Amino acid sequence: MTEPLQPGAVPEGGIAAVVVLAAGQGTRMRSALPKVLHPLGGRSMLGHVLAATAPLAARHTLVVVGAGREAVEEHLAQVAPGARPVLQEEQRGSGHAAAVALAAVPDLEGPVLLVNGDAPLLRPETVTALVEAHRAAGAVLTVLTAEVDDPTGLGRIVRVGDGAVQAIVEQRDATPEQRAIREVNAGVYVGEAGALRRALGSLREDNDQGEQYLTDVLGLLVAEGAPVAGVPAEDPVDVLGCNDRRELAARRRVLNDRVLDELMRSGVTVVDPATTWVDVTVTVAPDALLEPGVHLRGTTSVAPGAVVGPDTTLVDTTVEEGASVVRSHVLGAVVGPRADVGPFSYLRPGSRLSAGTKVGAFVETKNVQLGEGSKVPHLSYVGDATIGRSSNIGAATVFVNYDGVEKHHTEVGDHVRIGSDTMLVAPVTVGDGAYTAAGSVITTDVPPGAMGVARARQRNVAGWVKRRRPGTAAAQAAEAAGDAGAEAAVDTRAEASE
Ligand code: UD1
Ligand code: CA
Repeated sequence: MTEPLQPGAVPEGGIAAVVVLAAGQGTRMRSALPKVLHPLGGRSMLGHVLAATAPLAARHTLVVVGAGREAVEEHLAQVAPGARPVLQEEQRGSGHAAAVALAAVPDLEGPVLLVNGDAPLLRPETVTALVEAHRAAGAVLTVLTAEVDDPTGLGRIVRVGDGAVQAIVEQRDATPEQRAIREVNAGVYVGEAGALRRALGSLREDNDQGEQYLTDVLGLLVAEGAPVAGVPAEDPVDVLGCNDRRELAARRRVLNDRVLDELMRSGVTVVDPATTWVDVTVTVAPDALLEPGVHLRGTTSVAPGAVVGPDTTLVDTTVEEGASVVRSHVLGAVVGPRADVGPFSYLRPGSRLSAGTKVGAFVETKNVQLGEGSKVPHLSYVGDATIGRSSNIGAATVFVNYDGVEKHHTEVGDHVRIGSDTMLVAPVTVGDGAYTAAGSVITTDVPPGAMGVARARQRNVAGWVKRRRPGTAAAQAAEAAGDAGAEAAVDTRAEASE
């Protein structure tokens, strides 16, 4: 059993249980957040492990929780409501954690997959292949192994002359000869429930950490004469654990490279893979183009022919065919076909931009339906509004949606022209084909086709500069331009209050 694993199919009938060990402190992370909840590539570490084991279709999914238990349970309820948390009150080692899990389902029989919760690079193919190999070998316990350049800190796989696995020895308990072994325990095992239960029941704590090691189960079963196997992972990178923040950064990089490789193979242009970060949960269609500095997160999807970036973050956002989003921050929005966003736009949740729309520089939108072909080209805030087709919102318009207590809605019709620097004080409606005058504060509805004007009429006080700012460069310029201010009738009291 030293041939590398071949990617396997989902086993027929699934397996009895998946047990994820996730109760440990994660001390080396130096974090208030439990280790297994640290996010990378769009999921928590635990989320990645659960995603990798999901295709096994296990009858039970048990997650052993302890340190940071409440946070882990809350997270599980969100990402894997079918998984059952099992409490390990005291963290007495990985073997103790496994025993606690099996005790939670006393009538469990058949193959059980045990996996460390801190293995975010694990792939479904690796896990299914391990289960297949376990079956093919007729073993009671099969451990996934990896051949690594630097085995420091990991459990070593001890084999005897004919290559049969004999034991797993933790680094701190290993002899110098054992430390030279580069085949390590990946922390993923398949064992028959009955044999596991028996071996876990006789674990001792006579090791350097005074803990019950899951890894000792292997040696115990060998001593019973039971068939055990150790199979190397096809790619050792798949099984790398994650114990501190440096490893977290390294694992994140690997996950991202995997996602980008797959996208590029499928026909997406990624201009600069080094600065492009895409969650595993994102979809990008062929012939989309990702410029440098792009971050795509959550449920984001990007359609064919769309261009995203440079320097753009999209979270839970849909970008449709042929749209463009440049240097912008976009959360929970829909950018319709051929829409044009940015540079420097901030689209917040509920922004729904129809086909052919434009949202330009220094525009913030929130909870707005922007109808086909409508534009908000510059310097505006558009919140809680419905805007019809082919309307134009002039520069520096504000949809005044908040009265200090409640939010109110603004309705703008089709073919409307909102003049620059208009305040639309909600609730208010501007009818189809209407205009507003630049600088207006619109507090009552503007009927279809009307021009809403709400501002003071301009008056010019002639000769003011010459009288009030004599001798200044402005006064000289006015004089040179032929200012007749001295002759004008002057209301000096009104002027004093200017
Ligand atoms: C473990 C293995 C080691 C292997 C390595 C692979 C043991 C004794 N050693 O070492 O052979 O090479 O993983 O990454 O298992 N846990 C609990 N309850 C506890 C203790 C641990 O649930 O009381 C969980 C942890 O949350 C973790 C897993 O068990 O997910 C492994 O524990 P960890 O301390 O990370 O073990 P390593 O030292 O990494
Ligand atoms: Ca670990």
